[in-house]
Amino acid sequence: MCGIVGYIGERNATPIVLNGLKRLEYRGYDSAGIAVLQNGSIEIRRDAGKLSKLASLVESQPLEGNIGIGHTRWATHGEPSARNAHPHMGNSRQVVVVHNGIVENFLELREELMEEGVNFNSDTDTEVIVHLIERFLSAGTSLEEATRQALRHLKGAHGVVVMSSLEPDKIIAARIGNAGGVVVGFGEKEMFVASDIPAILDHTRRMIFLDSHQMAVVTRENVRVMTLDGKPVQPQEHLISWDPVAAEKGEYRHFMQKEIHEQVRSLTDTLAGRVDFDEGQIRLPQLNLTPDLARRIQKIIITACGTAAHAGMVGKVLIERIARIPVEVDIASEFRYRDPIVDQNTVVLAISQSGETADTLAAMDEGRKRGAVLWSIVNAIGSQAMRIADGYISMQTGPEIGVASTKAFTAPLVDLYMLAVLLADLRGVLDSTRRKQLVSDLRLIPDLVGRCLDRENEIIPVAREMKYIRNMLYLGRGINMPIAYEGALKLKEISYIHAEAYPAGEMKHGPIALVDRDMPVLAIAPQDPWYEKMISQIEQAKTRGGSVIVVATEGDTRVPELADHVFWVPPTPWLLSPVVTVIPLQLFAYHIASLRGLDVDQPRNLAKSVTVE
Ligand code: F6R
Repeated sequence: MCGIVGYIGERNATPIVLNGLKRLEYRGYDSAGIAVLQNGSIEIRRDAGKLSKLASLVESQPLEGNIGIGHTRWATHGEPSARNAHPHMGNSRQVVVVHNGIVENFLELREELMEEGVNFNSDTDTEVIVHLIERFLSAGTSLEEATRQALRHLKGAHGVVVMSSLEPDKIIAARIGNAGGVVVGFGEKEMFVASDIPAILDHTRRMIFLDSHQMAVVTRENVRVMTLDGKPVQPQEHLISWDPVAAEKGEYRHFMQKEIHEQVRSLTDTLAGRVDFDEGQIRLPQLNLTPDLARRIQKIIITACGTAAHAGMVGKVLIERIARIPVEVDIASEFRYRDPIVDQNTVVLAISQSGETADTLAAMDEGRKRGAVLWSIVNAIGSQAMRIADGYISMQTGPEIGVASTKAFTAPLVDLYMLAVLLADLRGVLDSTRRKQLVSDLRLIPDLVGRCLDRENEIIPVAREMKYIRNMLYLGRGINMPIAYEGALKLKEISYIHAEAYPAGEMKHGPIALVDRDMPVLAIAPQDPWYEKMISQIEQAKTRGGSVIVVATEGDTRVPELADHVFWVPPTPWLLSPVVTVIPLQLFAYHIASLRGLDVDQPRNLAKSVTVE
């Protein structure tokens, strides 16, 4: 979750950029930096650690100029250090770049540039961007054209801001995909650029937002927006309320919608620092998992409530498949009173967004009393579930404000996958080829989720058609069975529509009696090992008159023949498929509730953190 701020105007850029970065501080970071155009040349200050370190550095070595860009970094490629901190400057010292996202093809690009004689000064993926821009600039193109050409070479999702001493009258900003937003703010003879509204809200309320594949050329007086193909775009100006909470929602109507869209970023951060793609290794140091402990574990009990428990159900499939350790999933409010069979070779693994859910904490307590090893997967840093565990994985999604959990559902899915791979590796049940494959599949996830989000507009008309339904049946099998539960929970909790979930194979044992014209069925049928079984289930629902929506993999030709509506997801390695299949279900529930005019972020009778039994 990197933060970006830029300024161009008549005031000193330094305090404005630093103050903007401060507003993004709650997101956490491991390095920060600022570049200012001072007397015609680019000056950079950057350091590892908190923003206060950068502020002291700037105090001892001041910067003054009317144009500047800054960055707070959450490391993805390259350790958190001063040399890896943004901004990154080209070797000509004439161009500087800050960046949010991952350059997926950076190894290829780095090799290509090195063959051309380019020296690299950091281990980051971002550095290739500045060298690419320099390459095109040296061919005589403008900064705008050089940036455009450079961006066309990048794979992945990005927010990029560029400044150059060659064209000191502008900042260039661009957005590709969903790696985070780019907002441009209007002032009086000054303009602002940022990744998030709060960074510039002290200075302006008039803002525009870049869509994917758009670029903005920002001068003191105005902004020109175009697509990356150079076609002019007329952006819509928004007037943002001063209310910091409303401002936090940015271009979205509700926090839930914003948080659904943040998943590209939250999943990128989930992988950050944990996955070594070169070595094919997973690192979860805060879990305190030694090889000895990994071999000793005889059983894992995952305990959680609601959405977190659904993540645990996926975790069961992952850990059993990959690490071959038996896993039970126990709703925390049941586990705590069930006199469970637990000993010192059992791990009790609690999953909790808030880390303060009373039932989950009581279940952990129960595990502790019986001598189990206690682990947690938690979002809220410093919460009880984190503190009382022997080891933990932090979700790294940032605060989740909408009561209906979204990004704090997909992050633990990826955490559980990483845990399964690590356990398997330490127990010696994974050969290195398979381990490397499983690890490299993780790299795809943020982009695949982004591709699901890009299809939001296909879901809205279906939500409109369905918004007055009274009931809905969600079906899934295998690793996607918990996604049926999660989809149904999302729908009922924010739209108050009765929704039930079943493992699809159970239909014939009773629930199929429910299916008629008034009971739409939502079936999750991606290309996973249960696909054929799901198809026959869908056929059965169809012959009973039910209207059927199917979540299916792009390119599937059988589903469209059966379904009334299809929510398409991109092809995904099946062990990771729940991370993508849940996205259309989150969007579907969100749009139904929003179209019904309901209080999406604070549904009736519910609280974000359930600290009572
Ligand atoms: C549903 C939802 C809840 C929570 C549950 C556990 O959208 O958010 O079902 O998942 O109350 O909360 P945490 O994860 O904070 O323990």
